[in-house]
Amino acid sequence: MLLEIKNLHTKVENKAILKGIDLRINPGEVHAIMGPNGAGKSTLGNILAGKPGYKVTEGEVLLEGKNLLELDASERAHVGVFLSFQYPVEIPGVSNTQFLKTAVNSMRKAQNQSELDAMSFMKKLRANMEILEMDQKYMKRGVNDGFSGGEKKRNEMLQMMMLEPKICILDETDSGLDIDALQVVSKGANHMRDQKRGFIVITHYQRLLNYIVPDFVHVLADGKIVKSGNRSLALELEDKGYAWINEQGV
Ligand SMILES: Nc1ncnc2c1ncn2[C@@H]1O[C@H](COP(=O)(O)OP(=O)(O)OP(=O)(O)O)[C@@H](O)[C@H]1O
Ligand SMILES: [Mg+2]
Repeated sequence: MLLEIKNLHTKVENKAILKGIDLRINPGEVHAIMGPNGAGKSTLGNILAGKPGYKVTEGEVLLEGKNLLELDASERAHVGVFLSFQYPVEIPGVSNTQFLKTAVNSMRKAQNQSELDAMSFMKKLRANMEILEMDQKYMKRGVNDGFSGGEKKRNEMLQMMMLEPKICILDETDSGLDIDALQVVSKGANHMRDQKRGFIVITHYQRLLNYIVPDFVHVLADGKIVKSGNRSLALELEDKGYAWINEQGV
C-alpha cells in the first residue's frame, strides 16, 4: 500500500470539514476526486501536504506505512508528497532554476542521496522542459513571477517532474488551461505515471480525465466520500450532476 487514509476527520476554526475519509492508493494508481464546491477536496490535499491551520481530530494517514501526520510540510515533501495548488504561489527574486535546484537537492539530501551536479541537473531539467514544451526563458525568471495562469500550471508540473514524488496531488490543475496546455500538462503527468507512484487528481471536469485516465473516481461531498467507481462514474456525473447521487439515497 502506498497511501492509506483511515477515518480522517478535520476541523478548521472549529468547523468540521472532513468527516471520515477512507482512501487506499496502491502504487501505480490514479484516483480522481470530484465533488461540489466546498466539499473538502482542497482541504484533503492540504492536509496530506501538511499545510498548517488544519486540525486532524481523528484518523490516520500512512505513506508506505509511515505516519505522515507527525511530519511537517517540508518533511512530507522529503518523503515524497507533492501538492500542486489550485492557485500557485509566486516567489519573485528567486530564479526558477535556483528554486528547482535547491528543492531537488534538499530532497535528495533528505533521502541520503548525493547532490545532483550542475550538468546532470540541467540535463534532467531540459528533458522535462521539452516534454512540457516550455521555453528556456522561464528558467531565468522569478518563480511564477508574472507567469500567466497556464504558465504557472506548466511550471508546477515541471516542479513535480523534477522532484519525482511518490504521491502526486493535483488540485484543479486543469482550471484555466487552454486545450493545448491541458494536453501538455497531462502529458507531463502521464510521463510520471509508473509503478512507483500514485496520483490524486482533484477536478471538476471529466475533460481532464480523458487525458489523465483514472483507475478510480471518488465523489467527495460534505466531507465524506459518498460514492466511488471507475472512470465511467465521472462521465455519469458530468451527465447527471451531483444531485443524482443524492437521489440514489447515499
Ligand atoms: N483555512 C480555512 N479557514 C476557514 N475555512 C476553511 C479553510 N479551509 C477550508 N475551509 C472551509 O472548508 C470547506 C471546504 O473547503 P475546500 O477548499 O476544501 O473545498 P473544495 O472541495 O476544494 O471546493 P472547490 O471545489 O470550490 O475548490 C469550505 O467551506 C471552506 O470555506
Ligand atoms: Mg478546492
